[in-house]
Amino acid sequence: MGESMEKQEWGFKENHELHAAAAFTIRHILQAIIENIDEPQTGKSVIHLGHGDPSAFPLFRTPTVVEDALIASIRSAHFNSGANHAIEIILTVLARPGANILFPRPNYPIYEARARFSPLEVRHYDLIPDKGWEVDLDGVKALANDKTVAIVLINPGNPCGNVFTFEHMKKIAETARQLGILVIADEVYAHQVFGEKPFIPMGVFGDIAPVVTLGSLSKRWVVPADPPTVIQVKLNIPGFDDVVDDTDFCMKLAKEESLIVFPGDAAGLKNWVRVSFAAEPEVLKDAIRRMKAFCLRHAKHY
Ligand SMILES: Cc1ncc(COP(=O)(O)O)c(C=O)c1O
Repeated sequence: MGESMEKQEWGFKENHELHAAAAFTIRHILQAIIENIDEPQTGKSVIHLGHGDPSAFPLFRTPTVVEDALIASIRSAHFNSGANHAIEIILTVLARPGANILFPRPNYPIYEARARFSPLEVRHYDLIPDKGWEVDLDGVKALANDKTVAIVLINPGNPCGNVFTFEHMKKIAETARQLGILVIADEVYAHQVFGEKPFIPMGVFGDIAPVVTLGSLSKRWVVPADPPTVIQVKLNIPGFDDVVDDTDFCMKLAKEESLIVFPGDAAGLKNWVRVSFAAEPEVLKDAIRRMKAFCLRHAKHY
């Protein structure tokens, strides 16, 4: 470069939208909560129920047979990069200027981050807590237009742990057909349903609407994963004296009780918290005692 050359403005620039989306990750939020912990002050060892990933707990270790199979797979170059990669591919394929896509609220945040990479407007439909986190189908119809390309459905759900009924899924498929949109069925937790309700794959309704199903080796075999070993708990914020919202709750709980849970706001669910129940029963009992003591201490006294 000649010495006389003036500095030009670079033709490539930082993508500010992407920067903002990438800064808002589960890891960053948990780190901020962890920084609040004052173990010597509380005299209590840390309980981390903010993990989505249950393989951090002894009860959910990856079977060695799977580790061996993965190593063999990597060595023979048949390795693929999981459902996150599939999300990236499908959103890239669907993106076109002016197009929009319907995501659930609350959502698995990777969808939001990936959508920022592409010309895809994101529209959020609600999951209804009082109806077992069913899809608000009227909301879906109101949101969609002729530029809507797909609806993302996470079933079994993350972060809500919902498992949809056959009847509800049929209605979703019929709605997708009416709207002329693709259903992206994220079924990475298909093999981790513990309750009474059976899991039904969306592909069953493939004759009603087109369905792309996402599965995951990591979730199927508990190779670092976050299956629905979590529950969402709604906070009664007005019932607290000095807790202003879910993030404040998590920060104070970490500081005073060395207990980590995850603020729902990060997944679009303001004033809820996500609690992992993958820890050993004794640890969970201790965590519940701490949470109760915290709530009693901060409750409004009328
Ligand atoms: C709903 C959902 N979809 C997809 C993924 C990504 O799965 P994988 O680990 O196979 O990339 C996750 C991981 O947490 C998830 O919770």
